[in-house]
Amino acid sequence: MSAKIKAVVLHEKGGQLVVEEVDKPTPKPQPNADVPGEQGDLLVKIKTVALNPVDWKQAEIGFFIDGYPVVLGSDAAGIVEAVGNGVTGFSVGDEVMAYTKLGVPGGYGAFSQYALFEAASTFKKPPHLSWEEAASIPVGSLTAALGLYHNLNLPLPTENPSFFREEFILIWGGSSSVGSYAVQLAANTGLTVITTASPKNHDYLRSLGAAHVLDYNAPDIVDQINSITKNNLKYALDVVSSESSNIALKVLSQNGKLAWVAGPPTDKKEGVQETSVLLGECHRDPKGSLKTLNRLLKVVEQLLIEGRIRPNNVEVIEGGVDAIPDGLQKLKKGVSAKKLVVKFD
Ligand SMILES: NC(=O)c1ccc[n+]([C@@H]2O[C@H](COP(=O)([O-])OP(=O)(O)OC[C@H]3O[C@@H](n4cnc5c(N)ncnc54)[C@H](OP(=O)(O)O)[C@@H]3O)[C@@H](O)[C@H]2O)c1
Repeated sequence: MSAKIKAVVLHEKGGQLVVEEVDKPTPKPQPNADVPGEQGDLLVKIKTVALNPVDWKQAEIGFFIDGYPVVLGSDAAGIVEAVGNGVTGFSVGDEVMAYTKLGVPGGYGAFSQYALFEAASTFKKPPHLSWEEAASIPVGSLTAALGLYHNLNLPLPTENPSFFREEFILIWGGSSSVGSYAVQLAANTGLTVITTASPKNHDYLRSLGAAHVLDYNAPDIVDQINSITKNNLKYALDVVSSESSNIALKVLSQNGKLAWVAGPPTDKKEGVQETSVLLGECHRDPKGSLKTLNRLLKVVEQLLIEGRIRPNNVEVIEGGVDAIPDGLQKLKKGVSAKKLVVKFD
């Protein structure tokens, strides 16, 4: 009989999140050679989990859920307890953090005392980061990296940092978790970053490398952006909503590119390419986006080790698995420039 562990379980779409006992998962014995990029599983004892909007949205709306009951949770950090047969690059005792498979039953949900991390979406935790900071990294940084380096096809900061010195990028929603990583990554690529946030977060965003920080509530925001770019803006990443994607469309040049994370533009602009960023697809796409994700993960990992990007500010919630349902309600009410992280033990 397998050992029992505590986890946050969802039994049906829109149902209550309940803390109960589930079977301790076991890592898949060997990599699935049919899936490009798949490297097999690690069993990880969880130390911290970060809460993401997708977690409460999944519970309420039921998207990206392959079956019930399911343990949700997408961001976690912990210590490797077992390594799937054939998995290379990881050992028992490694300190790691990961973006876990969204809504896949069978031990992949992070809201649990033990979870399976797919090796391809697992980072080695840089030793200078705390467990709380580590959990805040995977979903936010990987979404930002996909948007910039896959959707917008910008050069990697590890390849040619000064390539785009004269080029602007608009990152709408810079103080969000995804936005804070996007600002840092884009600045590392060498772009001149224009971003938006509430005035209380402007100094924080300048400290992350933004050149221009604007109040998104300013009635003349479009004019302010146009005056900075002199009507020449090729790149925009929107992490907030359809409404802000529409504003991004307005300020992009005709040959511009918009990547949106949280809502498509409802307007159109001739000549502008728009593309949707979907981190959740990466574990589901048999054509190999997990391979792309793994390549970007290595870039983010290197930048973290070199201290060229830093984690989100975190607010720590004590209480382990039991504290997660209330933590998600707190996140749903809204946070500003911080990640909520639940600490285990
Ligand atoms: N497509 C994907 O693959 C993917 C992946 C990850 C996340 N997401 C989605 O992306 C969105 C962002 O996620 P997150 O975790 O980064 O969010 P978050 O950290 O919870 O976002 C909170 C931040 O949003 C900012 N904000 C709110 N309204 C704004 C506006 N009108 N303009 C500019 N900034 C605004 C706030 O800024 P101030 O406090 O400065 O006002 C606050 O700092 C969510 O909808 C999430 O579900 C999608």
